[in-house]
Amino acid sequence: MFNQYTISQFRSLKTPFYYYNADLLNKTLAAIRSSAEFYNYKVHYAVKANANEKILRTISNNGFGADCVSGNEIEKAIQCGFDPKNIVFAGVGKGDDELQFAIENNIFSINCESIQELEVIDYFAGMLNKKASVALRVNPNIDAHTHHNITTGLTINKFGISENELYTILSNRELYKNLIINGLHFHIGSQITDNTVFVNLCNKINQIQKYIYEKNIYLPHLNVGGGLGINYESPINQIPDFGAYFSVFHNNLKLYKIQQVHFEPGRSVVGQSGSIITKVLYVKENSGRKTIICDAGFTELLRPALYQSSHKIINITSETGSSVYDVAGPICETSDYFAKDIIMPETNRGDLIAILSAGAYGEAMASQYNLRSLANNYFSNELEAYRLKSNLIPASVEPEFLQK
Ligand code: LLP
Repeated sequence: MFNQYTISQFRSLKTPFYYYNADLLNKTLAAIRSSAEFYNYKVHYAVKANANEKILRTISNNGFGADCVSGNEIEKAIQCGFDPKNIVFAGVGKGDDELQFAIENNIFSINCESIQELEVIDYFAGMLNKKASVALRVNPNIDAHTHHNITTGLTINKFGISENELYTILSNRELYKNLIINGLHFHIGSQITDNTVFVNLCNKINQIQKYIYEKNIYLPHLNVGGGLGINYESPINQIPDFGAYFSVFHNNLKLYKIQQVHFEPGRSVVGQSGSIITKVLYVKENSGRKTIICDAGFTELLRPALYQSSHKIINITSETGSSVYDVAGPICETSDYFAKDIIMPETNRGDLIAILSAGAYGEAMASQYNLRSLANNYFSNELEAYRLKSNLIPASVEPEFLQK
């Protein structure tokens, strides 16, 4: 994963930083592409997971569409090569300027989350002399069995419109003269690791579609959102099982005429390709607890503090001994921990630590709290190119503890 030369390169870089494995990202994209092509599914990468420009360019070069949640995301996606015709725009509170920007750019679909929003989109489309293409985001009241802060498809959540509102909108759809209502949209949550949740979603969609099609309304686009989880416990070189994921929809969704199915994966696309490399500043011992204080904090990876999530943490410069540690950051907040009670090799000031599976919702959720600087990012292929150019140590020298 990290060979000795890479680690020696890391030593010369200012920490903390994000390190992206370009090879794994490309392999992941190839896996998604081949599985999606098999079922003729359209994939829109959820930009919110990681909007790093090089990552966006790599993904757009692979022919993916984009799922955006702000005007700025749409703008950046277009700049990074995504075709507006493959961009969808979600969000429970889209601003007037953002909606106008989306309409002006003729994006593929605005995923609408309320009747009020539908009226606003209709108004702006009329004003701009356009027909806006709209999908209705339905809240299906399906439990995603994930952390409550990343659950979006229950009626207690703010997202989507109710089934009743959906039927009202559809029966009054001729009122919206400047809209083409041509799709349904669902997204029930993130980091979903139990495929039966997606089966439940499919069953619910089938029920809703049956009702709609009995009324002779034809919506050619069905967007089932994102949410596929990744393996945080054992992440090394992991590519999520997209074949199994897509087959759940293939086996359970009942499609009408030639409906096109769309997906919006984020985490599963980029999650395993990113790590945070951080330096150990101090190792404190308070009342028998050993706490590693490293120079990354929740400003670089908010997930553990916000969702109590756990990421695999490895010391990449020490392999001897072992002890139980808490791993914390430098931020002046009690929640600024990456892990508690984990076993690590004997760790000392100056060691480098890698926090894995940080490619999704890591850099994208970075903040400058405590007036910290935003961390840099490096890509494996750039460091490798530098290695070849400087003709230094061969890359194949793996430290023993990473060869397992
Ligand atoms: N589509 C919509 C409408 C979404 O709201 C999201 C994520 C996605 C697609 C992509 O979901 P994914 O495939 O990445 O699960 N910051 C949290 C995750 C928040 C997800 C928000 N919406 C975390 O770090 O776990």
